[in-house]
Amino acid sequence: MNFANRIHTLRPSAIRAAGKLIRSKENCISFAAGLPSSALMPINEIREVTDRLLSEKGAVALQYGATKGYDPLLDEICKIMAKRHVHCKKEEIQITTGSQQGIFLTAMTFLNPGDTVITEKPTYLGALSSYTPFECNFRGVDADNEGMLIDELEKALEEEKNVKFVYAVPNFSNPTGKTWSVDRRKKLVQLANKYDIMIIEDNPYGEIRFSGEHVPTIKSFDTEDRVIYLGSFSKILFPGLRVGFSISNTAIANHFEVLKQGIDLQSNQFAQAQIAEYLKAYNLDEQIEQIVKVYGKKKDMMLEIIKEKFPKSIKHTNPEGGMFIWLDLPKGVDATKLLEKSIEEISVGFVPGGSFFTEPGYENTIRLNFSTVDEEEIIEGMNRLADFLTKELEK
Ligand SMILES: Cc1ncc(COP(=O)(O)O)c(C=O)c1O
Repeated sequence: MNFANRIHTLRPSAIRAAGKLIRSKENCISFAAGLPSSALMPINEIREVTDRLLSEKGAVALQYGATKGYDPLLDEICKIMAKRHVHCKKEEIQITTGSQQGIFLTAMTFLNPGDTVITEKPTYLGALSSYTPFECNFRGVDADNEGMLIDELEKALEEEKNVKFVYAVPNFSNPTGKTWSVDRRKKLVQLANKYDIMIIEDNPYGEIRFSGEHVPTIKSFDTEDRVIYLGSFSKILFPGLRVGFSISNTAIANHFEVLKQGIDLQSNQFAQAQIAEYLKAYNLDEQIEQIVKVYGKKKDMMLEIIKEKFPKSIKHTNPEGGMFIWLDLPKGVDATKLLEKSIEEISVGFVPGGSFFTEPGYENTIRLNFSTVDEEEIIEGMNRLADFLTKELEK
């Protein structure tokens, strides 16, 4: 069949492949998924606001709406962001179908074939999936525990032609759990100004901080409208409602709006209205506090077993928030082969980390999720994994 060139660039998701393998084994404990805990979703509250919404504003909530988004939700987002020191106007916001669509809109707006996207090494797989069909090149830049290495980033900006933007997940990144320092954020903005590029700040996990102080958004250091901020209600409320948003300058937001008219006319009006009503009736910060308490405990439990029982040759991150811990195994270990064996022998799954990189050579890495599993599963699964990895790495 005569497919478009972009179809030949597509690659299947390694997370879904790992998930399929894990589901094929009964009673497998999975640290592979990246789902928020269903137990923490405020389902009674959303039922209550939905009933009210249907009785009082059903005809509006179920009708077509503005492409930009449901107006009361835009108001609520302005209020939430102001608390985070990002003062935006409604015309700078575009409601998106999850922040994933925000990523896709940045690709549609900025990428020509052959352009370069700079990402952290490793980065969010879903961003690579969004950008790849636009036939761009990727340049990965190493990061330490404070974010992208700025010297390396500048080297990349000198060497690469047609760099359009840096894509970054600066808080509790998926997959590593790492967070950028204030200094790196400021330096990133300075380099974007110097090299005339954009920054995509993807921040779905920023609210979920268990320890340490909140770090200001990259957007708050933006002096030349170069930062496109992507937010989402998926990790703090309901991923199934698929409501996210972008904040940019008005000109970019207008392009997003027109592109979205061609993609899906608008994000789900009913879901937007449900979230707006929830935000008006309930205290989002209390909901976030609950999540932080539960995830923080789970992270500690997982980390304690890693520190006490995992082979010392395995390096790990110690995230201050989010949903993931990252493991670096000794060079030469193939985590995909380990996954197959782990499922077979100990019924424990995880995501091999190689596919979060834009280049080969990192097959010795693993992403572990602690939000989806319950505490008993963490204890049982991590102890099994500790014994298994000890045995495998001794070979
Ligand atoms: C870094 C990052 N960005 C974006 C998304 C997409 O989230 P959503 O489209 O549900 O808002 C995810 C989901 O896992 C993510 O980890």
